[in-house]
Amino acid sequence: MNRRRKIYEGKAKILFEGPEPGTLVQYFKDDATAGNGAKHEVIDGKGVLNNRISEFVFSKLNSMGIPTHFLRRINMREQLIKEVEIIPLEVVVRNYAAGSLCKRLGLEAGTQLPRSIIEFYYKDDALNDPMVSEEHITAFGWATPAELDDIMSLAIRVNDFLTGLFMGVGIQLVDFKIECGRLYEGDLMRIVLADEISPDNCRLWDIKTRNKLDKDRFREDLGGLVESYREVAQRLGILVEND
Ligand code: C5P
Repeated sequence: MNRRRKIYEGKAKILFEGPEPGTLVQYFKDDATAGNGAKHEVIDGKGVLNNRISEFVFSKLNSMGIPTHFLRRINMREQLIKEVEIIPLEVVVRNYAAGSLCKRLGLEAGTQLPRSIIEFYYKDDALNDPMVSEEHITAFGWATPAELDDIMSLAIRVNDFLTGLFMGVGIQLVDFKIECGRLYEGDLMRIVLADEISPDNCRLWDIKTRNKLDKDRFREDLGGLVESYREVAQRLGILVEND
C-alpha cells in the first residue's frame, strides 16, 4: 500500500497515484463514519464488500453507455479509475422519504415521493455539506449550467438503472448519493460518474420485510452492517452463499 503516492484520503477511501498517467487507484477502507465524522468505527470487511458492489454497479453502467471513472477492480480492496476533477457537490436522488428529507419536511419515512427528487449539497466538511440550489452552484461557479444539465441527466439515468437492478432482487431503492467529475480527454471534457455506489451511499430496504440493508444500520446502531452488505452482494449475484 505504501509503494504508491497518496493523492487524497477521505473518510472511507484513499486515492493513490495510478500506474499510468491519468489513472488513480481507489482503495476502500473499513472505516464507517456518520454525522460528518462525529461517529466513527472500523467495521471489518466493509471495504471489501463495497469494492465488489461498486465494481459490479459501475461495470454495468459503463456497459450501458453511462460514463463513469471506473476501469477495473485490481484486488479485494482496490480499483483502477480514471483521474477526474471532482465537482464539489453531493448529488442526492430520492424516490421515497427518509433521513434528512423527513427531518426537513416532516414526512413519514417510506412515503413515496410524487416524483424522484434531485438535491445538491456543497462538499465542505467544515460547513457540514450544506444543501445548495442550482442558483448557488452556477453563481459560485462550482458547475456551469451545461454541466449541471449533464449531472442531472446522469443522476436520472443512474436512478432508473439502480431502481430496476435492486427491484429485481427484492430491494427498494429509497435514495442514494453520487459524485461527478470532469474527465479531460485531449481537447474534450465530459461529465462522468465518480466515487462509488455501495450500501454506504444508498438507502436499500428489503421490499418484503422493510429491513434496512445499508449504512443506516451503523447510523442508527442497528448492528449487522457487514451481514446486510453481504446480503446485498449475494442477491446481486456478486457473492455466492458461502463467500
Ligand atoms: O442523510 P440524507 O437523507 O440526506 O441522505 C440521503 C442519501 O445520501 C442517503 O442514501 C445517504 O446514504 C447518502 N449520503 C451520502 N453521503 C453523505 C450524505 C448522504 O452517501 N455525506
